[in-house]
Amino acid sequence: MIEIEGVSFSYRTGEEDAVPALRGLDLRIEPGRFVAIIGHNGSGKSTLVKLLTAIQYPTEGTIRIDGVPVDEGNQWEIRRKVSVVFQDPDDQLVMNRVEDDVAFGPENLGLPREEIAERVESSLGALGLREIRGRLIEDLSSGQKQRAAIAGALAMRPRFLILDEPTSLLPVPVAMRLVAAIRDLNRRENMGVLHVTHSMHEASLFDRVVVMEAGRKILDGTPAEVFRQVERLREVGLDVPLAASLAHRLRARGISLEGDVLDEKDLRVALSSAIGSPADPPA
Ligand SMILES: Nc1ncnc2c1ncn2[C@@H]1O[C@H](COP(=O)(O)OP(=O)(O)OP(=O)(O)O)[C@@H](O)[C@H]1O
Ligand SMILES: [Mg+2]
Repeated sequence: MIEIEGVSFSYRTGEEDAVPALRGLDLRIEPGRFVAIIGHNGSGKSTLVKLLTAIQYPTEGTIRIDGVPVDEGNQWEIRRKVSVVFQDPDDQLVMNRVEDDVAFGPENLGLPREEIAERVESSLGALGLREIRGRLIEDLSSGQKQRAAIAGALAMRPRFLILDEPTSLLPVPVAMRLVAAIRDLNRRENMGVLHVTHSMHEASLFDRVVVMEAGRKILDGTPAEVFRQVERLREVGLDVPLAASLAHRLRARGISLEGDVLDEKDLRVALSSAIGSPADPPA
């Protein structure tokens, strides 16, 4: 369980100056949940990620992960519970070859050889990297590098995997495959996932969406609950998935659509019951 209570954080930029990045944030995330975090640039998403992984510490308030307070004394215990993957895989891949990089984390935990081998094997398999396990990192595509970085994070067997815009540099189909792979792991291993993204479509694939603005949480709910708040999201510079936006416009024009519309399939279903199925063409 991640428990964030009244957390504020400011970056110190000079003797007197401080940039507030989080302001009184409260958030609880149960184990095994699949959560997207969205918000405009500068809303505090990456700062939250840094606090959850003991890279920075709250200026005010407390964070606990499975009951362990996130503070300097518990830095290593926290980093065993939480693994993070950032936007740019080049910042986190440290070894020359894929499998060595995946083994790097577990080796640093001082685990027995067989355990390391087993973790490397299953992490490579989960991300579809077995065939390229011996390849040099520098020869990989950006999608492959990002998968290697995630495999390395998984090999730590974290309770929570935190992804800070891991898909923003990837083509959409590669990003979709990555989200599907993470979903699969989330289900199979009951590993909690917090996924920061600018893609509203991606966010709509999660169980819960948390919306940040100016260091605060402004919306929190299922994708259907959050993406219904079209006007509120627009106020903070966010859009909604295309199908949700179309449904919103149609409703504003007086067309009554039933149910929640998040994707094209929902829209088709809602439209066909609103307009009625087109008559069969004459034989
Ligand atoms: N190292 C830093 N020093 C000073 N201010 C910072 C630093 N990092 C972030 N900030 C400021 O803190 C606030 C929150 O930034 P943060 O990076 O957490 O936002 P974000 O939601 O991740 O944005 P983005 O979507 O652009 O990644 C912003 O006002 C930002 O300018
Ligand atoms: Mg960020």
